Amino acid sequence: MSLEINFKDRVVLITGVSSGIGLGTAKEFARAGAHISGCSRKKEDEEKIQEFRQAVDNAGGQSLYTQADVTKDRDLKTLVKKTIQHFGRLDILVSSAGMNVFEGAAGCTEERWQYNIDLNLTSHWRLAKLCKPYLEQSSNGVILLMTSNHAYSTIPGCFPYNVTKTAITGLVRSLAIEWGPSIRTVGLAPGFIDTAGNDTWFESFPDALAERERTINLHPVKCIGTVEEVGSLCVYLASPLARFISGTTVLMDGGRSALMQDTE
Ligand SMILES: NC(=O)c1ccc[n+]([C@@H]2O[C@H](COP(=O)([O-])OP(=O)(O)OC[C@H]3O[C@@H](n4cnc5c(N)ncnc54)[C@H](OP(=O)(O)O)[C@@H]3O)[C@@H](O)[C@H]2O)c1
Repeated sequence: MSLEINFKDRVVLITGVSSGIGLGTAKEFARAGAHISGCSRKKEDEEKIQEFRQAVDNAGGQSLYTQADVTKDRDLKTLVKKTIQHFGRLDILVSSAGMNVFEGAAGCTEERWQYNIDLNLTSHWRLAKLCKPYLEQSSNGVILLMTSNHAYSTIPGCFPYNVTKTAITGLVRSLAIEWGPSIRTVGLAPGFIDTAGNDTWFESFPDALAERERTINLHPVKCIGTVEEVGSLCVYLASPLARFISGTTVLMDGGRSALMQDTE
């Protein structure tokens, strides 16, 4: 089997296409020939949504955009309904929308906790359930859930995020064993990826550039990841080449977790 991956005529639903990993992943699936249904909370006419639509359309696929808040069940139902009405099928779900919630375990309010659970955990389960009947009709039904290296080790003050990202690895296992063989479910756990969000993180230090260099040096590969690299991994994991990968989460962190933190 060659390494060529062709998703022509396949339909991929991706959440969080207005920036970062979701947008990069949409571009990589589009390069592989897929049609993409994307969502975020942004309005259709915003620049980032135009970037998403153009990338897909220029690659020869069809794009569909839905303004949707993934924490709202009603929005998720509309998103899936619109996708099916427009394309008539669904082959792959990449549930990526999420956001870091920086709170400590003692200080986190019930409200912030619940917001984090709704966004970073419950939304993935709800959307997967809504997509299930359509993915089962595909000859290549795949669910990819975006977790994080925080599922394996974390930092102080990142309490609710790390809890939900760890829980997603359990969700991946449950869906894989309950919904296989018609649907494969795989988790992706990116480490430090070069995104606007992480730029903001660097900028919270007195010398952003120095902090960026320090972070890069903590990685055995001496770089941080790109959204295109995460997208390419998604494309591979969703392809028939990854037929034997299910119920597990793939960590891509440039070797960061292999290095003891006190060896810097
Ligand atoms: N960047 C990293 O280093 C990294 C590492 C590991 C894991 N991750 C994970 O990768 C995923 C994407 O992260 P990112 O870094 O690409 O973040 P990002 O650039 O902030 O993008 C987040 C995306 O999610 C969307 N989103 C957020 N809340 C939403 C909601 N309630 N409803 C619908 N869409 C929503 C955002 O769109 P709107 O704000 O326009 O709604 C945006 O499109 C997250 O699950 C994150 O935890 C990121």
